[in-house]
Amino acid sequence: MNATMETILHRRSIRSFLEKPIPKPVLEEIVLAGQYAPSAMNRQNWHFTVLQNQEKIQSLAKAIAIELGMGEEYCFYRPAALILVSAPKDSHNGLADCACALENIFLAAWSLDVGSVWINQLKDICDRPAIRAKLDELGVPADHLVGGMAALGYFETAPEAKPRAEGTVTWVE
Ligand SMILES: Cc1cc2nc3c(=O)[nH]c(=O)nc-3n(C[C@H](O)[C@H](O)[C@H](O)COP(=O)(O)O)c2cc1C
Repeated sequence: MNATMETILHRRSIRSFLEKPIPKPVLEEIVLAGQYAPSAMNRQNWHFTVLQNQEKIQSLAKAIAIELGMGEEYCFYRPAALILVSAPKDSHNGLADCACALENIFLAAWSLDVGSVWINQLKDICDRPAIRAKLDELGVPADHLVGGMAALGYFETAPEAKPRAEGTVTWVE
């Protein structure tokens, strides 16, 4: 099995991170992987907002928790870094583009021993005033919708791979 397949088959969502910063060059490589994802018509009209400042990460989590009536413990699993992947809200394939970029980010991170998990809660509430104000503060383009976020960090142990569903493939002869 080659290294790419190893990464794909072993990557797991990680939801418990060590309090250890991710060095900038490592984070830059992870973001680069996102930028090299496929995008519809090669538009690449996504934006990657990269946060490492813990106060800013947790302030965004708090704003989402308040908006969605979630408990105070909502914290994106306290990652070392958070990448918001956004695309223009009028882009027909914006969400698909964000998803491709996020999967590249997850795989690149895993290959660099960095754990990750998709954080989804922002997608449907970007234009609520309190959330948009927060996104403005962070420099997310005003006409963008955040398709998903990647919480990233070093981790101690990876969980066992979840069994993959059967019956999801049809081989047509
Ligand atoms: C569109 C999408 C949204 C997701 N949202 C969340 C989320 O908000 N929080 C979370 O902990 N995991 C989230 N996940 C991660 C899935 O729960 C996870 O990928 C799935 O359980 C399979 O586990 P694995 O990633 O370890 O293979 C999301 C995954 C996808 C693709």
